[in-house]
Amino acid sequence: MKEDVKRQMENKMGRFIALEGIDGSGKSTQIRLLAERLRQEKIPCYTTMEPTAAPVGSLIRQVLTGRIEMDNKVIAALFVADRLDHLLNQVDGIWPKVQAGTTVLTDRYYFSSYAYQSVDMPMDWVIQANEESRKILRPTVTVFIDVSPATAIGRIIKSRASLELFEEQSRLEAVRDRYLEAFRRTADTERVVIVDGERSINEIAEEIWEQIGCYF
Ligand code: ADP
Ligand code: TYD
Repeated sequence: MKEDVKRQMENKMGRFIALEGIDGSGKSTQIRLLAERLRQEKIPCYTTMEPTAAPVGSLIRQVLTGRIEMDNKVIAALFVADRLDHLLNQVDGIWPKVQAGTTVLTDRYYFSSYAYQSVDMPMDWVIQANEESRKILRPTVTVFIDVSPATAIGRIIKSRASLELFEEQSRLEAVRDRYLEAFRRTADTERVVIVDGERSINEIAEEIWEQIGCYF
């Protein structure tokens, strides 16, 4: 076990698990199952997501649904602001929770920015823009649920009436490539497990637990 995880365990800090993947990869399904599993193991946890339901996240959601239009650089900056608020806001910021010993599971964190926003601008810019969040809280482990963009779009169409801004197959192909590129670039500092998301919901849940159960 790496030193920083050992330290987290000794300090009784909560774990911080980020689920990542392209739209429709099954993140919210797996977060729900992981939270159930942790509760069975008597490990209390808090689940959350980005974009958040707070003011900056709500503004982002209006851009994603096409209600308002913004330049891609502005959208990237909003994701940075929403993430800092997600960490630090006084009502339900996740950094105080982790420090107080709560395990936090998040549906998306800074790898989402690295992957989605680097389609329109240099990845270095996006990584730099997220540096403050990375300094405050790095995931204990990031779980990437890997599905083909064709599978993901098929699932989204089946489950919803309309598609959002980034939910187009060619776009998701670029995003998936960027995720893999971001994992390569940050391999020295980030712990990432990649899980095959093309299997049944229960098989994926089992594998996620096999891979991350060791952190509890
Ligand atoms: P995300 O949060 O990554 O967008 P969801 O968990 O909402 O993904 O899943 C998108 C849709 O695909 C939902 O209708 C969900 O029930 C379905 N789904 C999730 N995982 C699987 C899977 N392994 N096999 C088939 N369908 C799945
Ligand atoms: P989400 O609601 O998680 O969509 P889904 O459940 O379909 O995966 O995320 C909304 C969209 O926001 C999604 O297309 C990914 C995008 N996004 C970014 O582009 N950058 C980010 O930093 C985050 C957190 C999300």
